Amino acid sequence: MRQVISVVNLKGGVGKTTSAVNIAACWGEIGKKVLLVDLDPQGSASLSVGKSSEGMELLQALQNKTALPVVSTDVPGVDLVPSGIALAKTGQWLSGGEAVNFLTPCLEQTHGDWEHIIIDCPPSLGVLSHNALMASQHVFVPVEASFLGLNGVQQMMTAIDAVKIHNPSIKIEAVIPCRAHRRRRIHWDIMDKLKAMFPGRVSPIIRENVSLAEAPGRGKPVIMSSRISKGSDDYRLVTLWIDERMNRAENVIENNFTGFQLQKTYN
Ligand SMILES: Nc1ncnc2c1ncn2[C@@H]1O[C@H](COP(=O)(O)OP(=O)(O)O)[C@@H](O)[C@H]1O
Ligand SMILES: [Mg+2]
Repeated sequence: MRQVISVVNLKGGVGKTTSAVNIAACWGEIGKKVLLVDLDPQGSASLSVGKSSEGMELLQALQNKTALPVVSTDVPGVDLVPSGIALAKTGQWLSGGEAVNFLTPCLEQTHGDWEHIIIDCPPSLGVLSHNALMASQHVFVPVEASFLGLNGVQQMMTAIDAVKIHNPSIKIEAVIPCRAHRRRRIHWDIMDKLKAMFPGRVSPIIRENVSLAEAPGRGKPVIMSSRISKGSDDYRLVTLWIDERMNRAENVIENNFTGFQLQKTYN
């Protein structure tokens, strides 16, 4: 089954785009087919895989005028729905506000053999992020290890609970500590708090690393721009961790294991 995943956090600069792009690329590297949907008018995910767009085609697709624009990329296994500044106009034509669910039908009508559709959300909980959450079964939340970062996660949980009324199957699959500095005491304090809040769902950390800061400027994910780097190692590991978690959860449900085993899987 096609899995739709939103990468969300209303805070900017925490590693949403970096995570969406690099997890997509790591999936591609292990032979999976992935559709990366750039839902941020800044178009950072598009630029990070060497593509740019005005965003008009995506806007029209969301308005149900055309099909979702899908382009291939030089990243093995990864196709892209590119975004651009025109998408910032989304709010203007939406009189119904946040309740409008226009992305789900767009994705349903888009055919491709993708195992995962990963959506890079803008740094807000506006209409675009709301639509991404409505269309997703899974959520990845990149978090920066800071007091304000933790506060942002709490706000995210509230927002996801609100979406659950319309989309009950949605769940936070992974909380990804990004831009981590292990030598700072606050890092360990925040990690303890995150693990208490999300038992079994806090992924291995992504360290602050220059390879990740440089990769977008080269229009390539880190595993292509700096194959041997801390950034590549960290995203490969996090992707394996995510796969293991998602596969286990799927197998448990498919095999109809007992609740006890299910609980063990999640903790
Ligand atoms: N682990 C990291 N190490 C170094 N730089 C990073 C790391 N993660 C993200 N960055 C850089 O920080 C900036 C913000 O990251 P980004 O993923 O765009 O955040 P968001 O999408 O949440 O706004 C970008 O310039 C990105 O290259
Ligand atoms: Mg971003």
